Amino acid sequence: MALEIRDDFPDDLHVVAVLKGAFIFLSDLIRHMPGQVSLDFMAVSSYAKGTTTSGEVRLQKDLDTTLDGRNVVIVEDIVDTGLTLTYLQEILRARNPRTLRTACLLSKPSRRKVNVKVEYIGFEIEDRFVVGYGLDYAEQYRNLPYISVVGG
Ligand code: IMP
Repeated sequence: MALEIRDDFPDDLHVVAVLKGAFIFLSDLIRHMPGQVSLDFMAVSSYAKGTTTSGEVRLQKDLDTTLDGRNVVIVEDIVDTGLTLTYLQEILRARNPRTLRTACLLSKPSRRKVNVKVEYIGFEIEDRFVVGYGLDYAEQYRNLPYISVVGG
């Protein structure tokens, strides 16, 4: 995926990672990316009830730098209902990037509520709640060096 993104944007590339879940994926992804890449971070909380998103998304930390004229790739851990990414894409598109694309490690297509465009997807998975490799359940399990299903 890193090489695919690099091929699509051989020159200017600005990666916006979504905290906290994407931090391990981001660090592996960019270490496989040759050439120059700049980074920024934003944090959102999607109000979860248990293991399902409520659809309410709040911006917790905004970007440090402008996106004006840049080729921007959002890096996210997982796309589930698609509500979080739809919100993020909307607010980032309003900042006039030259291009805006999205990379997700995981996707649960059967859970989608909105038709959100994700150009780079690592793996499609079933409707199971997963943790580890940055992904949490109630802020736990992010440190697991593998991805595991909660509740077997
Ligand atoms: P969406 O808005 O429903 O697409 O949800 C996206 C966010 O919900 C992700 O960024 C995760 O933080 C969280 N999420 C969705 N599914 C899972 C999961 O299986 N494990 C951990 N977090 C998840």
